[in-house]
Amino acid sequence: MSEFETILTDVTDGVATITINRPKALNALNLQVLTDITDAATAFDADDSVKAIIITGSEKAFAAGADIKEMSSLDFATAYKADWFAGWTRLTDVRKPVITAVGGYALGGGCELAMMGDILIASTKAKFGQPEINLGVLPGMGGSQRLTRAVGKAKAMDMCLTGRMMGAEEAERSGLVARVVEPEALLETANEIAQTIASKSRIASAMVKEAVNTAFETTLEQGLRYERRLFHSSLATNDQSEGMAAFVEKRDPNFTDS
Ligand code: CAA
Repeated sequence: MSEFETILTDVTDGVATITINRPKALNALNLQVLTDITDAATAFDADDSVKAIIITGSEKAFAAGADIKEMSSLDFATAYKADWFAGWTRLTDVRKPVITAVGGYALGGGCELAMMGDILIASTKAKFGQPEINLGVLPGMGGSQRLTRAVGKAKAMDMCLTGRMMGAEEAERSGLVARVVEPEALLETANEIAQTIASKSRIASAMVKEAVNTAFETTLEQGLRYERRLFHSSLATNDQSEGMAAFVEKRDPNFTDS
């Protein structure tokens, strides 16, 4: 993969890692970061050797938000015409599982980016927040929607209206974070999770992602029917035959993503 300006990329054993790398700006998300992350994630999604993607930052900051310096002169007409922030949809369109590993600040767009992934893990030092209210604006990359779905109205209102930060322990207790680990174990844990996912059938993991995400878009009845149909479809895959045969024969499955 070609070099990027604001991120580092690596692929090891079927797991692609995207590390946001703008240390001087605490990984603030400017347009270049948006382009780099979404280009890299789209390319990894299309790369058959990649089974799962990790997005991470530094120990101090996953990302301290959208780039305030870039936005400070942004006016309504420009933002509206460009549909500012809509480009992040390219990331949520990725069909492979995305793990976001947060050490340090995940504020504003940083918290919103962390929530765009499928599994959010945090170090004990992580701090989440939607402090846009302090700037006279509101979340614009999904904070009012994804945070509310993750932690409920009470805490989402508290965070978005006061701009206060939430530590890792509260974030896990509130349902925002899947696992909290010591800072030095963050990447190792993200990799373990990604490797576990990488050992499964890629078709099955893509279906799981589609099914869970559908829960946010439909009624329960529609969602249950959708899940059933996906389940029925999974019976047409070689990986289903292999997975069930391996169980019966008491051996490890050899999935071929077919
Ligand atoms: N945009 C641009 N630059 C940022 C930034 C941001 N979001 N956050 C930090 N930086 C820059 C600072 O300006 C500073 O640069 P200089 O050295 O050139 O002055 C550098 O990163 C280091 O930052 P601090 O000196 O402030 O570091 P700190 O350790 O004292 O404080 C912090 C850390 C509490 C995270 C503080 O930087 C901060 O509050 N940052 C802004 C957080 C924020 O408001 N985020 C929301 C942005 S709006 C948004 O995201 C909209 C949306 O919904 C998409």
